[in-house]
Amino acid sequence: MDKYVVFGNPIGQSKSPFIHTLFARQTSQQMTYTSQLVALDGFVQAADAFFNDGGKGCNITVPFKEQAYQYATTLTERARLAGAVNTLKKLDDGGVLGDNTDGEGLVQDLINQHVELKEQRILLLGAGGAARGVILPLLAQQPKQLVIANRTLSKAQQLAELFSSDGNVAALEQAELEDQTFDVIINSTSASLSGDVPAIPSTVIGANTTCYDMVYGSAITSFNRWAKEHGAIKTLDGLGMLVGQAAESFMLWRGLRPGAKQVQRELRRTLQ
Ligand code: ATR
Repeated sequence: MDKYVVFGNPIGQSKSPFIHTLFARQTSQQMTYTSQLVALDGFVQAADAFFNDGGKGCNITVPFKEQAYQYATTLTERARLAGAVNTLKKLDDGGVLGDNTDGEGLVQDLINQHVELKEQRILLLGAGGAARGVILPLLAQQPKQLVIANRTLSKAQQLAELFSSDGNVAALEQAELEDQTFDVIINSTSASLSGDVPAIPSTVIGANTTCYDMVYGSAITSFNRWAKEHGAIKTLDGLGMLVGQAAESFMLWRGLRPGAKQVQRELRRTLQ
């Protein structure tokens, strides 16, 4: 049976085995998908052992995505620009392909939730690894403009510069957002994990603004609560992105696109 795994540290919280097991059942694939806790200095050893034992592919989560980027012998363009890899696939020639499906997972979720991106003004909050991973797929949807705002302006400027040839992308200081509204606001900061909200003016939310928090949990996230209080027409959390990135990885490995909606519903039930 074909073997897949997710590597991380910590790993106990990972929903990936649940998601991929449902995908495999849905599409009648003969495969196993497990999770593995990897020592902080043990990523290369764990990946070597897995692939030498016939493993077909793996997902990589915190804190190994940059190491997986180094480990891959070939990179997709989106992984190269993301600077991080969340999916590895064993190639027939013995090499290992590194991909990053996080951004496409976000875009697919937005499309599934009927959020328009083309010709829209998008605000991306944060400029860390999570932000970097989603910029290219967002720009591929041809928004009117993608504005990156971050507590530390220089990091937003670096990202805007890095992607300047891929679309209309600009960096602004959080305070500079005064008097601007956006159609879609995506929070990639880790602020929600500590119950915080980035210090941006609430006027960025207009009458038709959708807000998306990449974080998710059993209760509404602090960012989405704030967004609702200030009139967002729709708030979405990162559970759909999680299922979306998994669906993209599954597609890369198995050549089949699983249905995300039913799996997302079942996953949401497990959070209650
Ligand atoms: P990740 O890989 O999840 O993106 P990261 O690279 O550490 O993690 O980036 C975290 C992001 O969240 C950064 O943009 C950070 O802002 P700074 O660059 O100014 O540090 C942002 N962030 C974290 N906590 C925040 C808070 N309370 N308010 C605003 N931004 C916050």
